[in-house]
Amino acid sequence: MNSRLLLLEILLFVVVLSSVCTTSHATKVFNVLDYGAVANNKTDNTKAFLKTWIGACQWRGRSRVLIPPGSYYLGSVIFRGSCDGPIEFVIKGVLRAPDDPDLFFIDHWISFQNINNLRIYGGGTLDGQGASAWPYNNCGTGSCNPLPVSLRLDFINDSEISNINSINSKNFHFNVFSCYRLRFSHVTISAPADSPNTDGIHIGGSGEIAIDTADIATGDDCVSIGSGNQGINISNVYCGPGHGISVGSMGRSATDEEGVSGVAVVNCTFRRTLNGVQIKTWPDSKAAGGFASDFVYDNIVMENVENPIFINQHYCPSNLCDPKGSSKIQISNITFRNIHGTCTTRDAVKLVCSKISPCHDIALENINLIGPGGFASSSCYNVRGRSRGRQKPPSCLH
Ligand SMILES: *[C@@H]1O[C@H](CO)[C@@H](O)[C@H](O)[C@H]1NC(C)=O
Ligand SMILES: *[C@@H]1O[C@H](CO)[C@@H](O)[C@H](O)[C@H]1NC(C)=O
Ligand SMILES: *[C@@H]1O[C@H](CO)[C@@H](O)[C@H](O)[C@H]1NC(C)=O
Ligand SMILES: *[C@@H]1O[C@H](CO)[C@@H](O)[C@H](O)[C@H]1NC(C)=O
Ligand SMILES: *[C@@H]1O[C@H](CO)[C@@H](O)[C@H](O)[C@H]1NC(C)=O
Repeated sequence: MNSRLLLLEILLFVVVLSSVCTTSHATKVFNVLDYGAVANNKTDNTKAFLKTWIGACQWRGRSRVLIPPGSYYLGSVIFRGSCDGPIEFVIKGVLRAPDDPDLFFIDHWISFQNINNLRIYGGGTLDGQGASAWPYNNCGTGSCNPLPVSLRLDFINDSEISNINSINSKNFHFNVFSCYRLRFSHVTISAPADSPNTDGIHIGGSGEIAIDTADIATGDDCVSIGSGNQGINISNVYCGPGHGISVGSMGRSATDEEGVSGVAVVNCTFRRTLNGVQIKTWPDSKAAGGFASDFVYDNIVMENVENPIFINQHYCPSNLCDPKGSSKIQISNITFRNIHGTCTTRDAVKLVCSKISPCHDIALENINLIGPGGFASSSCYNVRGRSRGRQKPPSCLH
């Protein structure tokens, strides 16, 4: 009798437990206002946001951090995983970074680390308050003060950033490091054309990253792809003003470098940018091992771009290198296809490769670029490849 009752009780307990688990399939919302956040541009919300994050991250099920409309002052903060379930970070308001120089010299404003299944969205804005910090940028001298990147994503897998705006970052807007299967979509990025080092999205040491539908106007590269990346898809990106979509710069560090492979840039438009599609390496690489291979650039529109198609193995800003050196980075299997529009110089196509490791399997297919007065040219140094279809300017590859 007693044991039967016990059995019944255990059964009941299991039923109740499983119903608790079922309800946890619904997303549990953690509103920053319930944790003391105040949307008045003044109150430092760092602690309130962190407390909210910890509550959501430790929730055993789907959770959501909610930042309602309003303007929130936020100091530098790290949102760490791992979390106990999939987590959303919904920004409906505007987050404002500090503009006090005493708080500048740190590498991040907002950082997410070590998380799987993270979704950041909501239509809100990250305001980096960059104008107060740009005068402190001294990267031209070779030793950079670490100004904060607006949003750092480190060790994030299977995640998504969508419908987020970033304005006036102090340094890069977004920095992706060691992330896999991460997707950006409907992201808007803006900073003045002359703001220093304000790259839109920088990707390093990562794989299977997609950027689709983004509007990027900034002072440096719209997207920059550093070493150690594999499988980067960029589509429907509008870039301008800015320095274009770049792979590199590679070959500067003294330690061996990982290569970049499998980059696709399709259906993109560049307007009034310094470069269009670019691969850049330093001329005097000290270490071996770097490469850039298996890239496709397809269906690209150039409007008044200075250097629309540019492989530059003599990249040497501010004369910080030996310009007579020769890059060891090997560039191969790069296709430029269906690229048309206008350029502001006559150098429509510049393929400047390394003497000691010439580029090979470079293809130009259906190029139609018109320079000032209707003139343009293409130039090749140390390149092997082929051209096919329409070639305007006449191809320097045979
Ligand atoms: C916060 O600052 C912005 C920009 O200066 C301003 O437009 C907004 O009205 C301010 N909001 C509050 C609640 O003070
Ligand atoms: C993220 O994905 C990469 C590549 O698939 C894997 O090596 C790494 O262990 C993953 N990290 C986590 C925290 O799951
Ligand atoms: C990139 O595009 C290729 C070809 O369409 C596709 O196979 C691959 O899954 C895409 N990768 C990402 C991360 O979207
Ligand atoms: C690029 O545009 C073409 C033509 O509009 C379309 O068929 C293709 O799906 C697009 N690709 C991507 C990745 O957006
Ligand atoms: C060249 O790169 C393309 C695009 O990534 C890839 O599909 C193709 O297999 C590569 N070709 C060779 C010979 O590796």
